[in-house]
Amino acid sequence: MALNREEALKALQTIKERIRRKESGWKYKIAVLSGKGGVGKSTIAVNLAAALAKKGYLVGILDADIHGPDVAKMMGIEKTDILAERTEDGRFEMLPPETDFSGKTAPLKVMTLGFMVDEDQPVIWRGPLVTKAIWQLLGDVKWGELDFMIIDFPPGTGDEILTVVQSINLDAAVIVTTPQEVALLDAGKAVNFMKKMEVPYITVVENMSYLICPYCGNEIDVFGKGGGRKLAEKEGVEFLGEIPIDLKAREASDAGIPIVLYEDTIAAKSFMGIAEKLVKKLEEMKAKEEAEAPSSSS
Ligand SMILES: Nc1ncnc2c1ncn2[C@@H]1O[C@H](COP(=O)(O)OP(=O)(O)O)[C@@H](O)[C@H]1O
Ligand SMILES: [Mg+2]
Repeated sequence: MALNREEALKALQTIKERIRRKESGWKYKIAVLSGKGGVGKSTIAVNLAAALAKKGYLVGILDADIHGPDVAKMMGIEKTDILAERTEDGRFEMLPPETDFSGKTAPLKVMTLGFMVDEDQPVIWRGPLVTKAIWQLLGDVKWGELDFMIIDFPPGTGDEILTVVQSINLDAAVIVTTPQEVALLDAGKAVNFMKKMEVPYITVVENMSYLICPYCGNEIDVFGKGGGRKLAEKEGVEFLGEIPIDLKAREASDAGIPIVLYEDTIAAKSFMGIAEKLVKKLEEMKAKEEAEAPSSSS
C-alpha cells in the first residue's frame, strides 16, 4: 500500500510520538559512537551494558549499526524469530530477546537490525531506510521501564545518525577510539558532532590502549598510548577510561560472553570502572537538573 504525502507525514509523526512516550520510561539514554569502524564500539557497548546489568540495573541495548549488527551475537543470542504482541491500539510490538548470562546479571534486553536482515547478505540500505528501521527499534519494541538504554550507532557522523539523535533525548554520548592517529582524528569529528547535537555529557573511551603480554604480563603499547585522553582534553570533554587489548576479550566476545563477566581480567576491571564513573556522573547531573528545575506544583 502506498501512502500519500500526508499519510506518510502522519505515520512519521506517530512513531516519533511513540519514541517520546517510550523514552520517558528510560532513565538514562546513552549513545555509543565512533569515528570509524573496527575500533571496538560494539565491544564497548555490550560490555558497558553487561557491567550495568551486573550491578543490577535494568538495561536495554539497541544495535543500530546496520553495517555490522553483531551485538546480539556478542551476547550469545542467536538470531531468532522475534515474537510480537498486539497493543491496545491494535499495533504490534516486538518483544526484545533477553539474557542474564546464566544468572550473572539482571536481565539484559537486546534488539538488533541483525534480527531483521540475512546474515550472509551484505546490507545496502539507504539512509532514510536505516533511520526508519532504527526508529522502529526504538518505538515499536516493548522495552518497558529501563535504567539504561544503550544505542550502538553506525560508525561515523552520517545523516541517519543525525536523524535518530534528533528524535531522542540522549543523556550521554560515549565516543570510542583507539590511540591511532586516524582513529583519533575521526573520533574528534564524532565529539564535535555530539557537541552540535547538544548532548549534555560527551565522553571518550580509549579501546585497545595497550596489550597485556600473555607470557610476561607486561603492557605493550601497540598503537601508542594516551591519545584518547589528549583528545578529550583538547575538546574539553571528559575522558572515561582506557581498555587494554585482551586476547580473552576477543575470545569471550566470539563465544557470546562479555569480557566484563570474567572478573579476574584487567579488561573487566577497566569496564567496571568505566561503568561506575558513568553512573556517578549521570546521577550527579540528574540531581543537579532536579535541584535547578522549578518545583512542579503537584
Ligand atoms: N579490548 C579488546 N581486546 C581484544 N579484542 C578486542 C577489544 N576490543 C575489540 N576487540 C575485537 O576487535 C574486533 C572489532 O571490535 P568491534 O567491537 O566489533 O568493533 P566496532 O563495533 O567498532 O566495529 C572484534 O573482533 C572484537 O572482539
Ligand atoms: Mg560494531
